[in-house]
Amino acid sequence: MSAAVAAERSARTAVRLLAAPDRSPLPRRSRAQLLAEIEASGLTGRGGAAFPTARKLAAVAHARRPVVVVNGVEGEPASWKDKVLLAQNPHLVVDGAMVAARVVGAREVTFAVGRANRTVRKRLEQALAERGDGIDIYLETVPDRFVAGEESALLNLLNGGPAKPTMEKPYERGVLVQNVETLANVALVARHGASWFRRCGTAGEPGTALVTVLGAVRNPGVAEVELGTTLREVLQRFGGLTAFPHALLVGGYFGTWIRAHDVLDAPLTNAALAPFGGSLGARTIAVLPQDACGLTESARVLRYLANESAGQCGPCIFGVAAMADAFDRLDVDRLGRLAPLVAGRGACAHPTGATRFAASATDVFADEIALHRAGRCSGAAHPPVLPLGTSREWR
Ligand SMILES: Cc1cc2nc3c(=O)[nH]c(=O)nc-3n(C[C@H](O)[C@H](O)[C@H](O)COP(=O)(O)O)c2cc1C
Ligand code: SF4
Repeated sequence: MSAAVAAERSARTAVRLLAAPDRSPLPRRSRAQLLAEIEASGLTGRGGAAFPTARKLAAVAHARRPVVVVNGVEGEPASWKDKVLLAQNPHLVVDGAMVAARVVGAREVTFAVGRANRTVRKRLEQALAERGDGIDIYLETVPDRFVAGEESALLNLLNGGPAKPTMEKPYERGVLVQNVETLANVALVARHGASWFRRCGTAGEPGTALVTVLGAVRNPGVAEVELGTTLREVLQRFGGLTAFPHALLVGGYFGTWIRAHDVLDAPLTNAALAPFGGSLGARTIAVLPQDACGLTESARVLRYLANESAGQCGPCIFGVAAMADAFDRLDVDRLGRLAPLVAGRGACAHPTGATRFAASATDVFADEIALHRAGRCSGAAHPPVLPLGTSREWR
């Protein structure tokens, strides 16, 4: 391997978020300097929507009584990245929350994690007990539901209500809800600066990503990869493939199935995934082996998503359930008719995510549909690949 290739390789495996904890004090900087540095870093949210972090911070900084909510719920059953980060490097997340609180002028920070994750809760409790940040810090647990991590639903839960999203954007009323991985990056930018942050990743999408990889790889789990690493290289980080891959589910259960041979050489960025209809989303990549059935897997996930509706918007309650029914019957025409009635409706992105997922499944597994209609299934003997919401303990 040439020196240039070796340097490139080591840069691509840069480990920042999961590196050994750095407990040195954060440099003293003014609120304006910190905000400018975060803006220059190009950091975007790691909770799914990739919203520019500096823009949200700036909006909340204008509020009368701003508060910070740290979103560590990770309700997506196929994602463990936030749990691993919180368990392995809780102080980095707390540092980021403190920087964010300083930038927006908040005197109160609430950490929210799923109820079933005892390990995460214990590590976070320990870390918070070791701090003296001179700020009110609360740790709350919420039910382990898919929608509980949606920011407005999370606020309802923290205020003693049900896990029901609202149309309102929390940052527009002075509440900064930020994903734990985003905040860990905020801490790194505050400590090392924007140009250091930009040394990893691509010009348009700088930094690293914590990815959960499951399915047909040797060592499923969580790793940190540089944005822009090809999916093939990402899978190598997980020990490589254990079977011929049929398709990849990129972005979790609101994500998109993509044929493996189309996407393996694409870089891991939103820009590169967009032509396939995909995005990084929850940063989960599931590798479906050739001998498993994408239709069976998708039918299970779609039913799970229908059951996880927060039950308040008609197009979601009835629409996602109707899509799950149509998918069970492989009624592709009905799925096509339902899509415009369901996507984009409701108070949150749940119906849109479910519609995108279903449409990508019928597209990528079109050949399998004919087989199913003839009463056969090429993956009948394969155990389920995609986990549902029964076990919340991460590996
Ligand atoms: C149904 C649904 C579930 C969500 N679950 C989570 C979650 O578990 N954790 C998370 O950080 N964001 C989740 N989000 C995204 C949040 O609403 C919000 O965009 C995010 O916490 C903002 O943080 P970020 O800007 O740092 O990404 C979810 C969104 C939807 C629509
Ligand atoms: S769209 Fe669905 S999940 Fe979202 S708020 Fe409405 S009912 Fe709840």
